[in-house]
Amino acid sequence: MSGEGLTIRDLRVTFDGFTAVDGVDLDIRPGDLRFLIGPNGAGKTTLVDAVTGLAKATGSVRFGGQELLGKPVHRIARLGIGRTFQTATVFEALTVLQNLDIAAGAARGPLTMLRRRKGVPEAVMKALETTGLTELHDRPAGALAHGQKQWLEIGMLLVQDVQLLLLDEPVAGMSHDEREATGALLQRVSEDRTVVVIEHDMDFMRSFARSVSVLHAGKVLSEGTVAQVQADPKVQEVYLGRSSEPESAPAPAPVPVAEEA
Ligand SMILES: Nc1ncnc2c1ncn2[C@@H]1O[C@H](COP(=O)(O)OP(=O)(O)OP(=O)(O)O)[C@@H](O)[C@H]1O
Ligand SMILES: [Mg+2]
Repeated sequence: MSGEGLTIRDLRVTFDGFTAVDGVDLDIRPGDLRFLIGPNGAGKTTLVDAVTGLAKATGSVRFGGQELLGKPVHRIARLGIGRTFQTATVFEALTVLQNLDIAAGAARGPLTMLRRRKGVPEAVMKALETTGLTELHDRPAGALAHGQKQWLEIGMLLVQDVQLLLLDEPVAGMSHDEREATGALLQRVSEDRTVVVIEHDMDFMRSFARSVSVLHAGKVLSEGTVAQVQADPKVQEVYLGRSSEPESAPAPAPVPVAEEA
């Protein structure tokens, strides 16, 4: 089992006459680990907002045989689609376990919570293991390192049995080791789910992407494997110009677009 695929056709999002997403087509296979890259303002977050029901859009977004556009946020979530935001949103005062517990069963009463102290549910155990947070389960989320908070957020999607994870810059602000651990985590997660990662970090993308789409000015500029996208002159021009390629390659003018605004 490798989850469901995502099919996007002619997606368009307009804010007061400004078109942020401009006719995007995307096909993301089940089990893909797709990186969505592109300069600041390319429309990456807006695209994820449209898929998750947060931004009004036209066109078509299909997941598991269902059209998502026009559905309210909670309906889309119930179809097994979950996301993270550019800033972490865990409950800082609660422990790792409590955060996962809440994510696993939003409507659980205090009595059930008490009864459940004896046994941690299977899905929560698994999420702790997958995210590498088992040892830290009793630690308040607010005391976690930056990277660990992002992993907890991913864990909170896993316990909800999300089939499509849309992660908005999950490694921003992480150390090198945290990035490596996150990449390995995303590879594990995408073994039986579909993962879309918005990212600015080219080294991270090179190491972990299974496929890449490059957005620029609301459109898909290029698509393919890491090698294909990197070899595309259009991409080098708008985005990868700043990358540290072997000296032998003719160096395009650096474009300082890849840092978070
Ligand atoms: N609510 C909004 N109202 C008006 N314009 C918006 C709104 N949200 C986004 N935009 C504009 O749409 C464009 C795309 O923004 P978006 O946040 O999707 O870019 P991004 O690719 O995620 O950029 P970044 O890498 O900086 O996060 C930008 O020009 C942005 O200013
Ligand atoms: Mg963004």
